[in-house]
Amino acid sequence: MIVIDGKAVAAQIKLEIAEEVKQILASGNRKPHLAAILVGHDGGSETYVASKVRTCEEIGFKSTLIRYEDDVTETELLNKVIALNNDADVDGFIVQLPLPQHISEQKVIETIDYRKDVDGFHPINAGRMSIGLPCFVSATPAGILELLKRYAIETSGKHCVVLGRSNIVGKPMATLMMQKTYPGDCTVTVCHSRTKGIADYCRKADIIIAALGAPGFLKGDMVKEGAVVIDVGTTRIPSDKTKSGFSLKGDVAFDEVAPKCSYITPVPGGVGPMTIISLMKNTLLAGKKAIYP
Ligand code: GUN
Repeated sequence: MIVIDGKAVAAQIKLEIAEEVKQILASGNRKPHLAAILVGHDGGSETYVASKVRTCEEIGFKSTLIRYEDDVTETELLNKVIALNNDADVDGFIVQLPLPQHISEQKVIETIDYRKDVDGFHPINAGRMSIGLPCFVSATPAGILELLKRYAIETSGKHCVVLGRSNIVGKPMATLMMQKTYPGDCTVTVCHSRTKGIADYCRKADIIIAALGAPGFLKGDMVKEGAVVIDVGTTRIPSDKTKSGFSLKGDVAFDEVAPKCSYITPVPGGVGPMTIISLMKNTLLAGKKAIYP
C-alpha cells in the first residue's frame, strides 16, 4: 500500500512553477497575478484563501486579496468582478465560495470573464472541459489527475466510482475520468445521496474518488483489495489537539481502508495541497495566455 504524498508532489510542482516565474521575469515580463475575492469570515474560506495568497508569495506570483463583509450587495460584488475582468494587470481571479444566501453564486460565476476564470467554474470552461477542448480545469479535479499521473497509476479500462455530484468536484471528475486520454479511459459510475446500494458499487470499483463531504463515510468493507482511493473530503472537526482548534477529516475511514488499497490519499496532505497548486498552474497559463490567446 502506498500513501500518496500530495504535500511532497505539491512542493515539487511549486519549485517547477517558481523556476518558470524566474524565466518569465528574466525575459522582461511581469509576475503572474492572481486576485481573490473573499466575502465574510467563514473559517474554511479564510483558511483556503490565506493558503492561496501564501502560495502565490512562495512561488513569486503577485496576489491581491479583496475582502467584503457578509452584507455586501450582489451589485457591489458583480461590479468588482467586472472591474477585475477589465483590469489588464490581473491575469486570473477567483471568488471564494460559498457566498451569502442573498448573492447568486451562479450569477457571479457567469459574470467572470471565462479567460480569467482560473477556478474553471464558468459554464464556458465547464462545457469546453466536458468535450475535451483546452480550458481552465477546476483545481481539485486537475490536482487529482496530476497525482494519478505523477504516481503513474493505471486508469485505462478501470472502473472508477465517483462519490458526489457537485459542480466543483464530482461532475468534472467523472467527466475527466472517462475522457479518451491518460489519466482517463475509465468506466465511470457516479454515486450520490440518492443512490441505492452505494457499498455494492464501491466494492466493484478499481478507483474510488470520494467527494461527499461526509466524514469517514467510506469504510473498510466497502473497498476491494488493491483499490486506489482518493479522498477529497475536508470536513472541519473541532479539536483540542491543534492550534487552530479544528482538524480536517476526510470521507474515508483511513485506518480501515488503507490496508486494502494499492494507493490511497491521506487527509490532510493528499488532495488538498494539489488543489492550490492547480490553481497556481491555471494562473500561470492565464498569464501566458496559453489557453485563450
Ligand atoms: N470553495 C471550495 N472550494 C473552492 C474552490 O476551489 N474555489 C472557490 N472559488 N471556492 C471554493
